[in-house]
Amino acid sequence: MANVTVIGAQWGDEGKGKIVDWLASRADAVVRFQGGHNAGHTLVVGDVTYKLSLLPSGIVTGTLSLIGNGVVLDPWALKAEIEKLTGQGVAINADNFGIADNCPLILPLHRDLDGLREQAAGAGKIGTTGRGIGPAYEDKVGRRAIRVCDLAHLDALDAQLDRLCAHHDALRAGFGQPPVDREALLAELREIAPFVLQFAQPVWQRLNKVRKAGARILFEGAQGVLLDVDHGTYPFVTSSNTVSGTAASGSGLGPNSTGFVLGIVKAYTTRVGSGPFPTELEDETGQRLGERGHEFGTVTGRKRRCGWFDAVLVRQSCAISGVTGIALTKLDVLDGFEKVKICTGYRLRGKVLDFFPAHAADQAEVEPIYEEMDGWSGTTAGARSWADLPAQAIKYIQRVQELIETPVALVSTSPEREDTILVRDPFVD
Ligand code: GDP
Ligand code: IMO
Ligand code: MG
Repeated sequence: MANVTVIGAQWGDEGKGKIVDWLASRADAVVRFQGGHNAGHTLVVGDVTYKLSLLPSGIVTGTLSLIGNGVVLDPWALKAEIEKLTGQGVAINADNFGIADNCPLILPLHRDLDGLREQAAGAGKIGTTGRGIGPAYEDKVGRRAIRVCDLAHLDALDAQLDRLCAHHDALRAGFGQPPVDREALLAELREIAPFVLQFAQPVWQRLNKVRKAGARILFEGAQGVLLDVDHGTYPFVTSSNTVSGTAASGSGLGPNSTGFVLGIVKAYTTRVGSGPFPTELEDETGQRLGERGHEFGTVTGRKRRCGWFDAVLVRQSCAISGVTGIALTKLDVLDGFEKVKICTGYRLRGKVLDFFPAHAADQAEVEPIYEEMDGWSGTTAGARSWADLPAQAIKYIQRVQELIETPVALVSTSPEREDTILVRDPFVD
């Protein structure tokens, strides 16, 4: 049985949540495999809107939802999100939700450090979500993280706390901050431990069991390939690998389990936070895209930067992540534009490039080469079949798939779950 891995192919906010929610009814399990509550996934079902940051989007359809070891988990954010969704009538219990017991925790000291560094960086700041994501991943790799399984052994945490505090106390001193209050931290962990532990389990084993039983697994990525710590616009990236390959290592299944790689691609481009953005429009057109697309961050409420579709970036993302097919989202936002532009290459100091160079200075300097197409006066909003689309919108989709060298599997035409056109079912082999 085929599995599906959903990843963002731009700078995040491509509409992953909507597509995962739509696909979840065809899946037996949904797994988050990287990132943390820096993600903000919006799902619209009828007149109800759900905003998820840490919980897999499958939870809304009641599909078994798991948080894999590749995620960094803030236990207090988890509790708040579960309470919020429970308040919206979503059932979340130990039967339909689980957390990997080897998942590293985001602690209050990580959030502190994220904020202190960003403040100190001034104009050079990354523009993080301030959730402590970077510092938590650093501690994981630095072998001093507190993990979910530690919550069941808080009396045996001394050696790990020594390692953790030795590192953080030195950093904090550099920022003029007092050392970590170990007792207060332990007390907070003691209080939250039972809540987290009710969901803790060897997720790798659960997944391997359901896989052997023939289940369809849906891997839900967060962020996007251009925010990947290796392949993205470094250093203006997040601190995890967001590419499809992480689905395996971040959940505990082998690389042969990731199945159809579905890249989620917005019909134009947006970015939140600092960093290069070749097709950014700081004019009325950019303003119009932002207004029509309601481009405000789900997590921080920040205005997203907007620009034309960049086929060079998406082609690169699709290649790097082995994308089998894309879901093209927010096509309706382009409705009514007289002309639409697509970036097909870059000019850098007199040379033409067909890829995005690695160095930040080159990334900032490239000039987009555009191809202009007629827009469409009809509407794509709410379309549920190919036949509902204006001819010129179909031409746009075809040009996009040609330029990115990857076929379109789905088209999304509104925030609403059912406003989705299926071209090729990713779950069918
Ligand atoms: P994610 O982080 O990739 O899950 O995306 P976000 O939820 O942060 O941002 C996508 C936004 O666009 C959300 O507000 C969605 O409700 C909305 N959205 C998703 N697909 C479509 C679409 O096809 N058309 C329109 N107009 N909005 C969409
Ligand atoms: P979803 O899953 C868009 C961006 C931040 C910042 C950089 C580093 O909703 O697509 P971090 O807090 O991760 O250290 O911030 O990454 N960023 C996102 N941008 N969508 C997201 O998630 C993002 N998660 C992080 O704005 O530029
Ligand atoms: Mg988002």
